[in-house]
Amino acid sequence: MSTCIQKEHSVESAVAGISADRRSLVSLIARLRSPSGQANPFPLYHELRERGDVVRAPWGAHLLTGYEVCEQVHRNGRTWLVPDAAWRARNGAGSFRWNAPSVQGLVKTLAWLNAPEHTRQRRSLGNVFGRGAIDALRPFVEATVERLLDTLAERLREEGEADFVPLVSEELPVATLGHWMGIPAGDHALLRELMHALEPAQELLPTKSELESAAVGMTGLRDYFTAFVRDRRRHPGDDPVSRWMRTWDEIEPDREAADENLYNLAMFLTIASLETSSTTLSVMVSLLARDRDRWQWLRAHPAHVPDAVEEVLRYDPAIHVSTRVAAEPTVIGGVPVEKDEMVHVLLGSANHDPRRYPDPDTFDIHRKASHLSFGVGPHYCLGAALGRLQTTSLLTGLLRRFPRLGVGAEPVFAPRVAFRRLMELKVVHE
Ligand code: HEM
Repeated sequence: MSTCIQKEHSVESAVAGISADRRSLVSLIARLRSPSGQANPFPLYHELRERGDVVRAPWGAHLLTGYEVCEQVHRNGRTWLVPDAAWRARNGAGSFRWNAPSVQGLVKTLAWLNAPEHTRQRRSLGNVFGRGAIDALRPFVEATVERLLDTLAERLREEGEADFVPLVSEELPVATLGHWMGIPAGDHALLRELMHALEPAQELLPTKSELESAAVGMTGLRDYFTAFVRDRRRHPGDDPVSRWMRTWDEIEPDREAADENLYNLAMFLTIASLETSSTTLSVMVSLLARDRDRWQWLRAHPAHVPDAVEEVLRYDPAIHVSTRVAAEPTVIGGVPVEKDEMVHVLLGSANHDPRRYPDPDTFDIHRKASHLSFGVGPHYCLGAALGRLQTTSLLTGLLRRFPRLGVGAEPVFAPRVAFRRLMELKVVHE
C-alpha cells in the first residue's frame, strides 16, 4: 500500500510526531487551504518552490512545484498515469477517499482512465470542438452574452452593485453546454447544484463530510445522465450524444457497456466544463475590472482581448492541482519515486515559476506566454477552445457595454485548493 494512502487524512492531524521542517510544511499547506490562502495562494507557492521542485508532502505523496517538472509529468503519459481503477484496487484498500461512492463514480470517467481505454474513449468523442464546431457555436455564445449582460445592466441600474457569479459566470457555461448537448434549460439549475456538490471529491484532501455531499452529487448526476442517454436511445437526433451513440454501437457490441460509457462521457463533459469555465469568467473580471486604466486600454485595443484571456488563464487557472501516479520506479526533478507513488502537480505554482515567467506575480496582459492551465499531454483539455470562446466573447461584450466596470469588494473563494471556485464577485459601474 502506498504511503500516501496510509496517511491520507487531514494535514493537521499529521503534525504530531514530525520534525520542525515537516511541521512548517504542514503549516504552509494549512495556510494554503485557509480563506486568505485561497484569496492569494501565490506567495505560498513561492514558499513551496523554495523547498524544491519536488516536495515530499506530509501524507507521503510528492508536491511538484516548478514549471518544468509539472510539464514533464503531464506530457509523459507512459510513466505518469492518472490514478485509475487498477491503481485504486492495488492501493486503495481501507481508504475512505478511494472507496467513497463519488470517487468510485469518477474513476470510470475520461480523466481517470489510462491508455488504451482512455485513447478509445477520447477517440469516440471525435473532434468535438474543432474550428467548424466552434464557429457554429459562436452566434449562440455571443447572443447569450448579450442576454446575460442585459440582466447585469438592469441589476446595476436598480441596485448599483451586482454579484457577477450567479448572474453571468455561472449562467454562460451551463447555457452553452446545454445548447450544445441538448439539455433543457429547466434542468440547468439542478445540474449546477449537483456538480458543485460533487466537485470536492476531486479536491487535494477531501474531508469525510465533503465526500458525503459529493456522493449526493454523484447519485444525482448518475440518475440524470442515465435517463438522458435512455432518452437519446428512444429519440436519437443530430446532437453530440446521439452521434457518440452511433459510434459506440459500431465499436462496442455490448449495448449495456456502450450506454454506460455514453453516460460517463456525457456526465464527465458536464463536470469538466461548468465550474472550470465559471471560475475562469469570474477570475477574468476580478483581475481585469479592478484596474480602470487597463480596462480603458483594452476597450481601445480589442485585438488584445485574446492576450488578456491567456494571461488570466496563466495567472489564476481554474484547476490549481492535478494528480498522477508513477507507472514504474522513476526519477522526477532528481527525486526517486516508487511505482504507484502519487504526485500532485501544482499547476497554479508552475504558472508562477520565475524561471519561466519574469516577474510572475505581475498580471501583465502583454506577456504572450504559454501556460499549463489546460494541462498538456494525453489528458489535454478537450474543451479548451470552447473555454476560450466563452471568455473572449464575454470580455468583448463587457468592454463594449460597461466602460466603467469595477470590482466592488474582494471576491470570495470557496475553501478549495485544487478546483478554484468564486462564490461571490461584487461588481459596480460608476
Ligand atoms: C477555461 C475553462 C477550462 C479550464 C481551465 C480547463 C482545464 C482543464 C485541465 C487543466 C484539464 C487536464 C486535467 C488533467 O490533466 O488532470 C482538463 C481536462 C478536460 N477538460 Fe477542461 N477546462 C476548461 C473547460 C472545459 C470545457 C468547456 C470542457 C468541455 C465542454 C472541458 C472538458 C475537459 C475534458 C473532457 C477533460 C479531460 C480530458 C482527458 O482526460 O482526456 N474543459 N481541463
